[in-house]
Amino acid sequence: MCGIVGAVGINNPRDYALKGLKMLEYRGYDSAGVGFLDQGIKIYKDVGSPEHLGDILPTEIKTDTIIGHTRWATHGMPSKENSHPHISAQRKIALVHNGVIENAHDIKVFLKEKGYSFYSKTDTELVVNLLEYYYFEYKDMIQALIKVRSILDGSYALVIVSEDHPGTLFMLKKGSPLLIGKGNGFNLVASDASPMINFTNEFVDLDDYDFGYINKDEIRIFDKDSKEVNKPIIHKDVELISHDLKGYPHYMLKEIEEIDEVVKRLVSNYYQDNKYIFDDNLIKDLKESDHIMFLGCGTSYHASLVGGRLFENINNISTSKYIASEWAFHPTFPGQKPFVILISQSGETADLIHCMNVIKEKKIRSLLITNTPGCTLSKGVTYTLQLYAGVEISVASTKAYAAQVALLALLAGAINKDPKIVEDLKGTVKVIENIQKTLKEPIAQIAEEIKDNEHVFFLGRSFDYFLSLEASLKLKEISYIHSEAYPGGELKHGPIALIKEGLPVIVFITDPITASSMRSNIEEVKSRGAKVYVISTKDLAIPKDTLIVENYPYYLSSVAISSIAFYLAYYVSLKKGYNVDKPHNLAKSVTVE
Ligand code: F6R
Repeated sequence: MCGIVGAVGINNPRDYALKGLKMLEYRGYDSAGVGFLDQGIKIYKDVGSPEHLGDILPTEIKTDTIIGHTRWATHGMPSKENSHPHISAQRKIALVHNGVIENAHDIKVFLKEKGYSFYSKTDTELVVNLLEYYYFEYKDMIQALIKVRSILDGSYALVIVSEDHPGTLFMLKKGSPLLIGKGNGFNLVASDASPMINFTNEFVDLDDYDFGYINKDEIRIFDKDSKEVNKPIIHKDVELISHDLKGYPHYMLKEIEEIDEVVKRLVSNYYQDNKYIFDDNLIKDLKESDHIMFLGCGTSYHASLVGGRLFENINNISTSKYIASEWAFHPTFPGQKPFVILISQSGETADLIHCMNVIKEKKIRSLLITNTPGCTLSKGVTYTLQLYAGVEISVASTKAYAAQVALLALLAGAINKDPKIVEDLKGTVKVIENIQKTLKEPIAQIAEEIKDNEHVFFLGRSFDYFLSLEASLKLKEISYIHSEAYPGGELKHGPIALIKEGLPVIVFITDPITASSMRSNIEEVKSRGAKVYVISTKDLAIPKDTLIVENYPYYLSSVAISSIAFYLAYYVSLKKGYNVDKPHNLAKSVTVE
């Protein structure tokens, strides 16, 4: 996690660093800091989000070389000492770091033997001292970087200022993203394009093991063999990374209310003139494979559960779905000709990058479904499909989840050349719009009723169960209420022991095949005192149900009515006075394993 910015030669470096870090808050926000050259290296840092930095930074900064960082703690709790930038013992070098150094212990032992001591608990302080140690030895920063790169294990995007090199920022990267923004008379660097997009639309993407430096006029990059390379210039679109709240009080609410548009856009991008628009080779690979494996984490894993079931039901293909962090260390490849689908909104998730490396090594063909063009994961897979959901800023994923499921449904439709799926998806748009128009108040009322409970249960079967898992994750993530999701039929095998007087149980009934079994499950929890809230579709509803939505094909629950789950979590969090978009302990981009 963690977000990085750097600039040389820019007019207002203070403003660039503060605004840029704000843009990168989705990568972590427990502490933040800025470092710059002004008669030596100056560092200002503290716990709290980048906004707070504005209070401690001098209003005028005289420098043309600045670095900044917003942190998600890995080594060492959020504290001023552990915040970045970190400075070397002789104050020659300071750097910001995104990633985790896996051989930190060995480096610490080495440096201690050389007489170094440390003020923080971070792996980053070790890196800056290691660099300083070799800089003193070689008297050359490039040689020192090559040496440090040969020692470091783990992931790192490093941006470095050196007292001896005013007007220059050095960098080194492996595993964590780093993008250079090419300016006219200035150059920038950051974890993604968003801090730089108001200054340039020309970018240079660094690959793993690349290192180099920028000054105001030059970008010089060296590859894994330490040979200088001419990297291609990439152009990025300002629209795609807009952080405009468009009048909404929170990004989460805005993003929930974009779901209908996202579904429409996906359909029109992947289905034109009565034909699915997917790479023929991708469809051929999917058809020829005898087993499709899905990998994802959190919300994206929940989307993979839906995707797997769709491929089984619609395409009659055998599938398995794995939590990426579980599969990565014990990989299995069922079938003779497996194909892997990785799902990641950010495209930067470390657990998935680990999986991707295993898959690549085995030369298994793979597809990435992502919302982030040019992301790290897209560089290692055979095919990439974009969600076109627009940037998702709220830490809790909403529109990306609905988009992931919608895209998987389109893919299932494309394999069978079945236009009905497109019509079904188009039909969900009306359901989504109706929820937006008519159900927000009743959902806010449920939120009011459940907000003070310590525990909540969600129940569903099949596709409604998958949605229940997502609803439960969302609620716990932003309202800090403990919640569980169970298949309706599984309750009696253990968890029913937890049902007690007044416990809220939220039930989805949208599947005609399982509706009557779910009604029986409701009686089971009611008779043990649960307070039940039923969300059902018109054809399956009974008058007492809490929320009744328009009919839709039951296999599209996660597209058609996921907004109900998202609104519920949103209103509970709001009513409890929490920071909806930035729940504690979390970050949007999970770049550590
Ligand atoms: C929950 C949430 C997370 C992510 C997970 C994977 O709201 O957003 O559970 O889904 O961290 O992230 P991506 O999809 O970026 O790989």
